[in-house]
Amino acid sequence: MCKAKLGVNPLKANVIPIVRAQADFRFDHICSTLWLVVSLLSIRFEVDKIKAPVAHPKVIMFDTTPLFSLPKVEQYQRLAQQARVLMEGEKDRIANAANLSALVMHALPDLNWAGFYFYDGTELVLGPFQGKPACLRIQLDRGVCGAAARTRTTQLVPDVHAFPGHIACDAASRSEIVVPLVHQGRLVGVWDVDSPIPARFDVQDQSGMETLCQIYLDSVFGVR
Ligand code: SME
Repeated sequence: MCKAKLGVNPLKANVIPIVRAQADFRFDHICSTLWLVVSLLSIRFEVDKIKAPVAHPKVIMFDTTPLFSLPKVEQYQRLAQQARVLMEGEKDRIANAANLSALVMHALPDLNWAGFYFYDGTELVLGPFQGKPACLRIQLDRGVCGAAARTRTTQLVPDVHAFPGHIACDAASRSEIVVPLVHQGRLVGVWDVDSPIPARFDVQDQSGMETLCQIYLDSVFGVR
């Protein structure tokens, strides 16, 4: 009677809390699952951010196939194209000098050194290069590099032993070409390439190397 008075069905009185408990459990379960999914997605996002290339991904891999089998003129035509692609959009003188040294050293036959010396206002200071370790500083009145910097003309040296004041950084070197790097009348440095073969470089090399140097200067200082 009493229960009838209160209008409470004893069966329902027990069932409702159970249904509520089940609903709460489902809600908790959905929340936990959602939280787990969001956590996993954010971890994945963080991992992707780590894996993604963070810097300029322009040149991730570059074909430095040797051009040994091509006629010399074509070697330099290919090198000029490759150098332009390699330096496009990059102005940093060290980065571009490093890549140009690697490109030339891998592409051309019979070289044992290829690299840069930069003028610091007093003397030439070693820059990026490929080959054996080299002398760090060269005064303008010394060596083939000094002569190129001083006279601002390309030095084509068929026999380094016959060149007065030649500085032997690598005893294997027999011939050498050094191109001065000049921008708007200002000496920037020199581009130096050595070979273990006597008379390795001729006027075609001179023309090709001077073109490469101009591409380098254009990349660093902007096209004229
Ligand atoms: N032979 C150069 C010095 C530099 S090395 O060759 C790398 C010269 O006589 O100036």
